[in-house]
Amino acid sequence: MKVEEVKSIVKTQRISAHSHIKGLGLDENGFAIQAAAGLVGQEQAREAAGVVVDMIRSKKMAGRAVLLAGPPGTGKTAIALAIAQELGNKVPFCPMVGSEVYSSEIKKTEVLMENFRRAIGLRIRETKEVYEGEVSELTPVETESPAGGYGKTVSHVIISLRTAKGSKQLKLDPSIYEALQKEKVEVGDVIYIEATSGAVKRQGRSDAYATEFDLEAEEYVPLPKGEVHKKKEVVQDVTLHDLDAANAKPQGGQDVLSMMGQLLKPKKTEITDKLRREINKIVDKYIDQGVAELVPGVLFIDEVHMLDIETFTYLHRALESAIAPIVIFATNRGRCLIRGTDDVYSPHGIPLDLLDRLLIIRTIPYNRSDMEQILKLRANTEGLEIDPDAITALGEIGTKATLRYAVQLLTPAHLTAKINGRSNIVLADVQEVGSLFLDAKSSAKILQENKDKFMS
Ligand SMILES: Nc1ncnc2c1ncn2[C@@H]1O[C@H](COP(=O)(O)OP(=O)(O)OP(=O)(O)O)[C@@H](O)[C@H]1O
Ligand SMILES: [Mg+2]
Repeated sequence: MKVEEVKSIVKTQRISAHSHIKGLGLDENGFAIQAAAGLVGQEQAREAAGVVVDMIRSKKMAGRAVLLAGPPGTGKTAIALAIAQELGNKVPFCPMVGSEVYSSEIKKTEVLMENFRRAIGLRIRETKEVYEGEVSELTPVETESPAGGYGKTVSHVIISLRTAKGSKQLKLDPSIYEALQKEKVEVGDVIYIEATSGAVKRQGRSDAYATEFDLEAEEYVPLPKGEVHKKKEVVQDVTLHDLDAANAKPQGGQDVLSMMGQLLKPKKTEITDKLRREINKIVDKYIDQGVAELVPGVLFIDEVHMLDIETFTYLHRALESAIAPIVIFATNRGRCLIRGTDDVYSPHGIPLDLLDRLLIIRTIPYNRSDMEQILKLRANTEGLEIDPDAITALGEIGTKATLRYAVQLLTPAHLTAKINGRSNIVLADVQEVGSLFLDAKSSAKILQENKDKFMS
């Protein structure tokens, strides 16, 4: 199994609407502070989420599932993301939306399984023979290209590494030179090179260089102690999906079509069930040997009512397996039809046997003052100035429609303000955009009233 070259593949999330959220905002006893870490109100749900976080941290949650249930715009997605923030970046958190399973190219269960494995972490501790130090010299040595012509190729690279104890000059293969370039290693960086694989890891800039003027946020690290050539414990956090992807063979085949496929998508790899089983076996072995440790993370499935009976069944079975993450679902549906069936209705559109094993966290609609506080927070995060009576008006809109709708009106209201040559949003801007757009409820009402005028 490949481990050295595994790069973590984190799903990019669209969280801009929740960028003000930094955590659950609980005190040291686990009680919710009315407004903290970007969250306002919804105290009970936040406290319950805090208990879930504690259980995840103490590893008592693997294979369990939690459901966040409540009306639209009551902070379910926000709370799930706050849980992710509380867990920190060492615990995998894989967010997805129920409808993601419907792809024309990939099987539904395959999408689920991939995300499942993105949510299970593995911490691998290995003692490796390394060369570590601050780079004090880095010189590629070129020779005439053997093919003749004008080209020159790097035949080797001379690198000097310095520690508090001494320094060493190494002559390295061109392949390692490429690795150094990939990591953008320069003189003054602290790096280590693995003796057996030649893998290069840049740890940061040596803090001897910290006084230099620099623009980028750099991580400064101290000059390593000890010898340059030594044994070092290397800790690596990866997910099972990272391992699957790194060990998958590029799709190979003799026929022209698959060759074309390779040309068009050179990175396309295939992860099969067989490969996953192999990886699991090796992972088990690593765990037995004490080299690796499982870190069950969180698979967050938002809008879970979008899943159908087939995926629910699969998910239920996957939760039973020995290696499973914690699954957090969210939905704003009440009793509804389970997708993929003709007439099976159930609470939240989730099959009863799965529902039975869930811990349910309820979110409730916000009151006026909570809503105004959240709107102010959002305006702040987006760098918008807004008058108090404009906030009041938005709060009113929020109680009639949803908080989400009121939050969304901030941007057009700001544009209207700008058009009118103002930098702050005033009451008139809110009234104007309020009259331009419809919220879902009013739109539905208009549809109902004018049924005969629409095509159906
Ligand atoms: N308690 C809160 N504190 C601060 N911001 C919040 C809070 N609750 C919700 N928000 C913000 O309000 C907006 C709507 O909330 P969110 O998307 O979490 O609702 P939801 O319950 O997931 O709704 P839906 O059922 O429609 O998915 C988001 O921008 C969210 O960050
Ligand atoms: Mg949501």
